[in-house]
Amino acid sequence: MIKVENLSYIYQPGTSQEKVALKNINLEIPSPSFFCIVGANGSGKSTFARLLNGLYTPTSGDVIVDGMNTKDEKRIWEIRKNVGLVFQNPDNQIIGMTVEEDIAFGCENLGLPPEEIEERINFALKAVGMEEYRKYPPYLLSGGQKQRVAIAGILAMMPKYIVLDEPTTMLDPKGRKEIINIIRRLYEEEKKTIILITHHMEEVIWAEKIVVFFNGEIVDLGTPREIFSKDEKLNEWGLNLPITTRISKCLLERGFNIPHPILTPEELSLWL
Ligand SMILES: Nc1ncnc2c1ncn2[C@@H]1O[C@H](COP(=O)(O)OP(=O)(O)OP(=O)(O)O)[C@@H](O)[C@H]1O
Ligand SMILES: [Mg+2]
Repeated sequence: MIKVENLSYIYQPGTSQEKVALKNINLEIPSPSFFCIVGANGSGKSTFARLLNGLYTPTSGDVIVDGMNTKDEKRIWEIRKNVGLVFQNPDNQIIGMTVEEDIAFGCENLGLPPEEIEERINFALKAVGMEEYRKYPPYLLSGGQKQRVAIAGILAMMPKYIVLDEPTTMLDPKGRKEIINIIRRLYEEEKKTIILITHHMEEVIWAEKIVVFFNGEIVDLGTPREIFSKDEKLNEWGLNLPITTRISKCLLERGFNIPHPILTPEELSLWL
């Protein structure tokens, strides 16, 4: 479990540019689970992601990963091994000359023996469906394929928790869908704990829990159905309804006998 207690984070404290990014956050993320974090620009999501694996240290409060506090320098290596972070832009995460070299990089840093690294590369490539690109130079890949390699690089390190900060933003709809399917599989089949930060409401309908950030605070936590039933609140928080939910809402308002909120296209087509 990741336990976040009274967490606050201030950028450049004590200067004229001081910025309170997070205020008194409390959250428990059990393992395995699938959490999505949503919130308007500047609400503190990326700051939170970086605090989860100890890239940032809390200004006050604590982040505790399986009993290890990110403030404890002796445990930071162990924490980073257990909490993998995937960023928005795959170009900033890929460093190897070939796909396989790139995936091996994190494992080599863990000091693993070559046979073990080999096994992990195979596993990670398979998990993201990129086996045939093993010897490819990453620059020849599409954005979606690069993001899959970036995820494979994290997977090969076998973290228990995977934090993804808007991993589909740079991708087209097809690439976006592929990445989301991989993320869902990591949770459903590999039993990873997923913390997905996203702006796309279509991506959060699969989550167990949605956490809403607003102005550096958590303002709501609930299942997708619970969160998307609060139409007027969503507006206030700068969020939209998923397209399917918007359609079902319009139909409801026009007198159709249809439940609200509907989340998936399958559910909607059934009612239609
Ligand atoms: N390095 C920094 N120095 C000072 N302030 C920062 C820094 N990084 C972020 N901030 C500020 O902290 C707040 C939270 O930023 P953060 O990047 O965590 O938001 P976010 O929810 O990830 O936004 P987005 O949806 O745009 O990615 C914002 O007001 C931002 O301007
Ligand atoms: Mg961000």
